[in-house]
Amino acid sequence: MRRLARESIRPYWGWIVMACVFMALVAGTTGLSAYLMKPVINEIFVDRNEAMLVPIALAIFATFVVKGVGNYGQSVTMSFVGQRIITDVQHRLYAHITTLELGYFHATPIGSLITRFTVDINMMRAAVSNVITGFGKDALSVVALVYVMFAQDWKLALIAFIVFPIAVVPIARIGQRIRKVTANTQEELGQFATILEQTFQGARVVKAYRMEEYEKSRVRTIAERVFTLTMKATRIRSVASPIMETLGGIAIVLVILYGGFRVIDQAMDPGSFFAFITALLIAYEPVKRLANLNTALQEGLASADRVFALLDRAPVVQERANPQTLDVQGGEIEFRNVAFTYDGTDQQALNGLTLKAPAGKMAALVGPSGAGKSTILNLIPRFYDVTAGDVRIDGHDVRDVSFESLRCAIGLVSQEIILFDDTVRANIAYGKQGATEDEIVAAAKAAAAHDFIMDLPNGYDTEVGERGVRISGGQRQRLAIARAMLKNAPILLLDEATSSLDTESERQVQGALDRLTQNRTTLVIAHRLSTVMGADVIHVVDRGRVVESGNHGELIARNGLYARLYALQFADEAQANAPRHEPRVAAGE
Ligand SMILES: Nc1ncnc2c1ncn2[C@@H]1O[C@H](COP(=O)(O)OP(=O)(O)O)[C@@H](O)[C@H]1O
Ligand SMILES: [Mg+2]
Repeated sequence: MRRLARESIRPYWGWIVMACVFMALVAGTTGLSAYLMKPVINEIFVDRNEAMLVPIALAIFATFVVKGVGNYGQSVTMSFVGQRIITDVQHRLYAHITTLELGYFHATPIGSLITRFTVDINMMRAAVSNVITGFGKDALSVVALVYVMFAQDWKLALIAFIVFPIAVVPIARIGQRIRKVTANTQEELGQFATILEQTFQGARVVKAYRMEEYEKSRVRTIAERVFTLTMKATRIRSVASPIMETLGGIAIVLVILYGGFRVIDQAMDPGSFFAFITALLIAYEPVKRLANLNTALQEGLASADRVFALLDRAPVVQERANPQTLDVQGGEIEFRNVAFTYDGTDQQALNGLTLKAPAGKMAALVGPSGAGKSTILNLIPRFYDVTAGDVRIDGHDVRDVSFESLRCAIGLVSQEIILFDDTVRANIAYGKQGATEDEIVAAAKAAAAHDFIMDLPNGYDTEVGERGVRISGGQRQRLAIARAMLKNAPILLLDEATSSLDTESERQVQGALDRLTQNRTTLVIAHRLSTVMGADVIHVVDRGRVVESGNHGELIARNGLYARLYALQFADEAQANAPRHEPRVAAGE
């Protein structure tokens, strides 16, 4: 709570003071409206004083107008503060999440990240504004009303309030339980969002494998669990009601008994008694809200816990305090005795891996699926950090240089191609803001993408849709290559960049890639050996280490794993006379 106050509320204390002034206005007029019952009864009903009739009526009217203005003011200022808190935290949270390492996004269900931004932040806001309104408006109103009561008859007031402390313990316990239940509810809601996202995105697979019933029952199970938890929370929360109603009833009965006795005894005038009972009745609602405040606060704090936990999650891959700027000279990449294990696995993906990609030359990685080829590429832009050993570019450890200079130096076409929900033009220009139309078209032409783009309904302005579902795999791959071409970085990493292309477009793209890779340090993973046969050096990777290196001729002469892979492919090629059948190094891809 202190942290919430320090980080989220403090910038707006001026607004909060203003809101409190309005709330004080509401509280004061609330007290006044109860107090005015006294002259109403005494002057008008008991004394039949006609001269007081209009002034009293006007006073009551004025009280209500001022109360209305106060309510307007406090509700507008409080929403302002509440909405600012949401917006600020969303901004901070997103900014923080962008600093987290890639592995975090792979390990965390997206749905739960999204609930942090929506449900949790909203709960936090509700707690903050409920607490401020609770203390400002309700507590002040109660104080004003209690003052009115004590002013009438302090003994009667003591009798009225003697019962309320009884409620403190059960209501505190309700707060604790509610916090636990809401924490579980948020978790289920996060899972819910994740399932929805996955099954909508994977609708094709769900349909193809006729998993509709299975997914329906999964969604149903979670929805039912959310229902049960929500009902549980409601039951716990509602227990406060009967407690408060009963206590309120006891208070009023005591007041009527004792107060009535005093009035009959003529120890108290009827006006005072009515003012007292009015104040007590009006106080009832704000007291009930104050009793529920703890519950709302606990819900909000449970959410704030989760939001702060995410804000505190330090990125595993971090920039040094004073990083050097990487100024790529040749762009030689060197792995020295590198070991790497993915988080949450106990098997080393790389162990004792040493290799060199010479400056300005093309180096290829080949090897069976799961050998660790993609992992090697991931370590160069520091998507992950090595567990042991080091990765160097031009002799600089990648951990010593700034993210900015490192990632600017690297063009990447990864295995999994992401197109954003935007136009073809914007997707190619991604990462080079302010690219000119000519540059974009030139990159598209070089990636053999221009022709198909012109055939799209709106050319470069065509929206490619979420995940680029409306264009084929090969077309997506060409857009990704165009993106990398436009970036024109000195180091190029290609992870099976041409795997989804048909032979014809591969030939076109291959020509473009040959041009692109000239005088650039290129590290390429390819499933077709034919595309890497011309590489300056080929590293054969198996089970997380380099088992042999050399050019094509040398490796064939060695008669090792490469020669075997090559023979397999050769046999495949000879066997399949249809050119559609593409020989592959990596089985199952
Ligand atoms: N995000 C990940 N989390 C855990 N293990 C992974 C992850 N990515 C890859 N691996 C594992 O690391 C090993 C190497 O994978 P990868 O580098 O993708 O192989 P390749 O690209 O050669 O097919 C495999 O055993 C794979 O299961
Ligand atoms: Mg791979």
